[in-house]
Amino acid sequence: MNMYEFNKFLGAILGSALLLMVVNIIGDALVHPTIPAKAAIAIGDGAEEDAKEEAKAEDAKEDTGPGLAALLAAGDAGKGAKAAKKCKACHSFDKGGKHKVGPVLYGVVGRGMGGGTNFKYSSALMDKGGAWSYADLDAFLANPKGFIPGTKMAFKGIKKQTDRANLIAFMRQQHDSPPALPAE
Ligand code: HEC
Repeated sequence: MNMYEFNKFLGAILGSALLLMVVNIIGDALVHPTIPAKAAIAIGDGAEEDAKEEAKAEDAKEDTGPGLAALLAAGDAGKGAKAAKKCKACHSFDKGGKHKVGPVLYGVVGRGMGGGTNFKYSSALMDKGGAWSYADLDAFLANPKGFIPGTKMAFKGIKKQTDRANLIAFMRQQHDSPPALPAE
């Protein structure tokens, strides 16, 4: 390809790019995509009602499901001990154990948040304050970063509530005097 041909070639490319831009600009100018605040066609009031009914049904389902207290009461510490293997990469559950990436969890139920001695907690966890209630532990283990945004516990959480209840039942055993289970 000689220089002249190359210039023609380049010109063609630039020309098409320019044309595309112009078409784009004109297109945008002609068609204003405005998003209506309200749907132009109401899809029957019934649809909304149905959605509400469904939401209510969902709520009702949650209410009738076994609550945390019932799950904890039925918690299987043996299964929990197995589930705790996931935690052991970072935590010791033993009395007098050593901190690893995470603090020793012996006696953590009912202990002040960030109450492990000589462990450097994140400020997020320290700022949370309060003591580890059963409900707090359940929420934290379900979604650590959701319960304490900024925690340095790099663990995605445990989805199933029964799995968490088993784990908490195990954690209760790794304790000198665990707080009483919630009554309801
Ligand atoms: C990848 C490492 C890692 C894994 C896996 C992990 N943790 Fe943690 N955990 C941490 C770290 C780090 C902290 C301190 C968090 C902070 O300071 O924000 C922590 C904190 C905690 C605390 C708060 C302790 C206190 O003294 O306030 C609890 C409870 C806890 N973890 C339970 C668990 C359980 C139960 C599991 C297993 C299901 C688990 N963790 C898995 C690293 C981990």
